[in-house]
This record gives sequence, C-alpha cells and structure tokens, in this order.
Amino acid sequence: MLSAEQNRALMEVGRGTLMGELLRRYWTPFAAVGELDQQPIKAVRLMGEDLILYRDNSGNYGLLDRHCAHRRADLLYGWVEECGLRCNYHGWKFDHTGACIHQPFEEVAHPDARFKDRITTKAYPVEARAGLLWAYLGPLPAPEVPVWEPFTWGNGFVQIVLSEIPCNWFQCQENSIDPVHFEWLHDNWSLRIKGQTNGKAPPMHLRIAFDEFEYGFTYRRIREGQSEQDELWTVGRTCLWPNCLFTGNHFEWRVPIDDERTLSVGWFFDRVPEEMEPFRQERTPYWHGPIKDERTGRWIESHVMNQDFVAWVGQGTQADRTQEHLGESDRGVILMRRRLLEEAEKVKQGLEPKGLIRDPTAARFVQLPIIGRDFFLAGYSLRDVEGGNNPFRYPKQFIFQAGQPEELTRAYQDAMGMRPDGSPRSPEEVAADRKDAAATV
Ligand code: FES
Ligand SMILES: [Fe+2]
Repeated sequence: MLSAEQNRALMEVGRGTLMGELLRRYWTPFAAVGELDQQPIKAVRLMGEDLILYRDNSGNYGLLDRHCAHRRADLLYGWVEECGLRCNYHGWKFDHTGACIHQPFEEVAHPDARFKDRITTKAYPVEARAGLLWAYLGPLPAPEVPVWEPFTWGNGFVQIVLSEIPCNWFQCQENSIDPVHFEWLHDNWSLRIKGQTNGKAPPMHLRIAFDEFEYGFTYRRIREGQSEQDELWTVGRTCLWPNCLFTGNHFEWRVPIDDERTLSVGWFFDRVPEEMEPFRQERTPYWHGPIKDERTGRWIESHVMNQDFVAWVGQGTQADRTQEHLGESDRGVILMRRRLLEEAEKVKQGLEPKGLIRDPTAARFVQLPIIGRDFFLAGYSLRDVEGGNNPFRYPKQFIFQAGQPEELTRAYQDAMGMRPDGSPRSPEEVAADRKDAAATV
C-alpha cells in the first residue's frame, strides 16, 4: 500500500513534478506520421502541456507552445509554409526550433530593430521513427531515439492504433508488469463474454518471476501445462521502461496526456509469408480505436486491449493506492513503483536516470527479449499455416482492439496472402496473382 503522497508522486506528470521530470528524460511516441498527411497541423496535449504539432513544406516537424508568443492566439489556426508555422492573427512566423523568423509589420515599422531576434517560443524536438512521431520534452542535449529491434525488421504488416483512455497513465503502465491478469481479464472473462465456459477453466498461473534490465523488466510465467523450457519462462515479456509494454511483436505505450488522461499508442507487427515478399509499406497505416460501445454506453469488452482499458478506467480516473491490498501477484507492480520513484529521485538530484542512450551507434539497434525471434527474422511459408497451424503468428483477424477500419482489414489480408475468411491462400494462387499484377504494371 502506498501513502497518498507516493500515490500522487507516481501519477503527476506536469513539468516540475517528480514523475513529470523523469518521464521528460525519455523520447515518447505521441502521434502517427500519417496523421499529418491530410492536415499538417495538429493540436496535442502531452504531459499536461498544450502544444501544436506541424510538418512544414520542407518536411521539418515542429512541436511548439500551442499559443503564439505574440498575443497568444491559437496556432492550430495558423498555416505552414516552406519553413515554419505562421500565426493567423498578425502573421508572426516560427520555425521548429522555436525561433521567431518573421514579424511582418514590425519589420516594416522598424526594419533595423530585429525585434524577432529576441522572441522565441517553447519548442520540443520531434523525430519520426517506425511510422510514429516521437517527442522529447526534457533538458538538452536530448538522448538518442532508441531504434527498438522490431523497428528494423522487414516484410511486416505494421499498423498503429491510437486511443484516448480517460484515466491516469500509471494504472495503465502497472498493467505492463501484471502477468496474472492475463488469465482472468482476458482468458476467463473472454470465455464468459462468449458464453463458452462449459466448466473448463483456462490454465492457472503456477509461478511468476520478475527481472530488471537496462530497459525495463521482464516478467515470466509458468501456467498449467507449461514447463521451464517454455519461452514464456526462459525469455518472458517486457515491461519497457518507463511507460510501455512490449510483447515480442507489439508495443503499447501509455502516454500521459495529463494527470487524468492517457493516450494508448499501439504498434503492431505481423510478418507476411515468404510468398508475399518483398513487402513494403509506403506509409505505416494508423487508426483510432474506439473504447466505448455507443449502443450500450458500456466500455467495449470484446478485444484484448479493450479489456485492459476496462480494468484501468474501472480503477477510477486516478487509482487510490492507499486503499489497495497487494499480494504475491503484485510483486512486479511493487518493484516498478519502487524503481520509478528511485529513478525520479535521481533526476531531482541532477543525475541521469536509467535507460537513456547517448551513443548513436548503440541507439541504432536496441535488442529486447523476444519470444519467437527466429520466426520474425526467418519468416514462414503459407504452407506452414495451412490447416490452421500457428494461429498466433498468422492471426485471422486483429485481436487487440475493436474498430479496425475495413480497408485496413483488407490491406492486412492482402499482405498476409489471406482469404476474407482468414484462411491462407495457396502459394500457387498467390504466385499466379503476383504474376498477373506484375504484368498489368
Ligand atoms: S497573436 Fe500570433 S501574431 Fe499576433
Ligand atoms: Fe492485458
């Protein structure tokens, strides 16, 4: 059980707060690159700060104070130019470093005064990686943006799913180090939702273990029917420091919007069969996942992450940890809380927290614990999945969140050499189609 003060410390993300300062030491994804394709300016709230994201006509990304440094107009209604973002109120223009680079009337009235040289606005660095936009809100120099191992994989169908969750980020992140919930929130509850209990229970957890490493923690489990040789025990899954879950081929970041809202950023990789190689995506597709069933007014319960969302928001907008009763299943949660508070304390003392990468070479490829790494690297043939083999590696549908747009479902099925019913096409069929397609080009 935590004191009210510790509880608050873990949840507050504003500038100057204990956790807010720790989280600002890391790059965090906060949008999909594709979000700026239709409209190059987007309002963003991140860790309690109101910001404006834009991509100018030269391709520079800016993340500025949402309000103009002149008289605070809303830059969402400005426009981008070759270089920078111009305010619609009096035409001041800012570049992605926060420098004011044009003040139309001031420059007419006082051509030599160079008033603009004394004006800057808040600006944070932004980098594009793996179809995501990443922001760094901490002190400069910024560390490197880590290129996590799966970002380097080829021949994958990647999709990004964004959802706004109306609760504090930290209860979402506690879920990243909570193996036992899987058996109940996902397995047992799903059976009940589908009315498929029939007296049979999913395998129980028998043992769990937690280990810390440079980029977070691994959690390992043995369930009934599994052994110490299973990769769930020998490798485990990753609670990725400081605000992410990594399961081997997908990431789920819990990005604080402010103290009461969280942006769930999911990045999912599915290896396409070798018959579909080479496979490349021009743009990583993204979509917004709904969390509420508008017909019933209840939270959506049908998909894995939606079930997680139900648990998180159910804990209250901000979980009251002074009221909990922690047991053996919560050892990972306790460990993570302690380490976050310790690392935040280090930052407060002016020290560098764990997990930052300053060496550009090291950042270019950061290995993580990955169950089934060989599969993702070596690939597979449609022959291997005939007859429903390997359903986990060749999922018939997107099981993580509800609401996948139809065109994306179709794009996924095409990429996977899959029929609309989710069954694999034959390698010969795929080869003939590809030949036809090549002939039409
Ligand atoms: S308020 Fe933006 S230019 Fe005046
Ligand atoms: Fe879960």
